Amino acid sequence: MANIILVGAQWGDEGKGKIIDVLTEGADIVVRTQGGNNAGHTVFLGPKKYVLHLIPSGILRPGKQCVIGNGVVVDPLGLVQEIDGLLKLGIKVSPKNLILSETAHVVFPYHRELDGAREVAKGKNKIGTTKRGIGPTYGDKAARVGLRMIDLIHPARFAEKLKARIAENNAVLKAMGAKPLSFAKVHAAYRAAGDRLKPFVANTVVLLHESSRRKANILFEGAQGTFLDIDHGTYPFVTSSNTTSGGACTGSGVPPNRMDRVVGVMKAYTTRVGEGPLPTENAEVADLLHAMGREFGATTGRARRCGWFDSVATRHATMVNGIDELAITNVDGLDTLDTIKVCVAYRVGAKKYDYVPNDIETLAQCQPVYVEFPGWKTDTTRARKWNDLPAKARSYLKAIAELTGAKLTIASVGPARAQTIFL
Ligand code: GDP
Ligand code: IMO
Ligand code: MG
Repeated sequence: MANIILVGAQWGDEGKGKIIDVLTEGADIVVRTQGGNNAGHTVFLGPKKYVLHLIPSGILRPGKQCVIGNGVVVDPLGLVQEIDGLLKLGIKVSPKNLILSETAHVVFPYHRELDGAREVAKGKNKIGTTKRGIGPTYGDKAARVGLRMIDLIHPARFAEKLKARIAENNAVLKAMGAKPLSFAKVHAAYRAAGDRLKPFVANTVVLLHESSRRKANILFEGAQGTFLDIDHGTYPFVTSSNTTSGGACTGSGVPPNRMDRVVGVMKAYTTRVGEGPLPTENAEVADLLHAMGREFGATTGRARRCGWFDSVATRHATMVNGIDELAITNVDGLDTLDTIKVCVAYRVGAKKYDYVPNDIETLAQCQPVYVEFPGWKTDTTRARKWNDLPAKARSYLKAIAELTGAKLTIASVGPARAQTIFL
């Protein structure tokens, strides 16, 4: 293998967890580099379903090392709960296979409260966040008032800093009509989590560089998707981190010239959870997928918005991420359709766009220009090789990869490991 960055090429939930799990077989280390427990990555091992939020999906494969990098925001209580949940399911999690960056920023209850209060204040303009406190935590990081894991595990320093942060945030919360927090309660809960997590905390930059020198293969597990990127997404309807490939470097301390390739994961159609423009949104596609019991959020349980495949968006994703290879998931979701549409351009009045406009108001007005493909109307879930797929499905996949501008290397026809076709 090599050092591979895996990113979501759409609006998140592309099936990154499944593809990471498949690619982990060839990796030594799997690293999360951005986001927090707003992510929900689903992996099936046989009939057993695992949903990872903060811990890299690589944890499910024995012998692999997992790293939560400096660019991640960590809710320590959430992380302890996730570790305990995995232990209960028989997955080994210890400081031997999970290492947590000492410079990762910490999510506090005031971040979650603020996240919720700001959404209420925005009313109909809300973002539809996961309410995990992600935005306010990255806000504090940028404002240089955040606390990091290294602070959490040093009791005296932690108490002093937390006291000041709670005082400031309580004033804000009160002004927004939210309940102030008790320092004593937050302190006790976080100190307990800090003691529990201390053995996992280390200098992950040095660790990754030493591993790299030993020629370890590192897989960088992206969270969210390209159009939720704080710079390149549909701002302000985005998350608060760089979900695109550059985030893997800044969020881990592994520089660009140590990266070998970028794999983009995308669904054979489009989904989005939360507010913001989605040019190809379509009720027929949503009804079809929801009736199959699919496309409900792995973190919040919300029904995902669904639509046709948008190649204007994925082409943009190829450009900003430098996607070399594509993994297309959920091919089987389209198995029953007579005709499948693919968006190849946007139109606003007489103006045609072959790129994603930056102005959110323009994007909201974009009408998709579609081309149609004949459906294959065959169950693909038992296909294991490229030639097992119906010819019409192969044509469709080749066409959307070509429109996206990258090489198709993986097609996924179900959530299980075995339902993966390598090209
Ligand atoms: P992630 O956030 O990108 O890891 O994606 P999620 O786990 O939130 O959502 C993807 C969903 O699609 C999960 O329920 C996966 O189990 C499921 N999934 C992934 N690939 C396939 C596939 O090829 N076919 C089907 N039917 N489900 C898939
Ligand atoms: P994975 O890693 C899909 C969305 C939220 C909301 C916006 C901002 O599973 O693909 P936030 O809580 O981050 O401030 O919310 O981003 N969002 C996701 N959508 N998949 C995710 O993660 C997401 N993480 C955040 O729904 O629209
Ligand atoms: Mg998800």
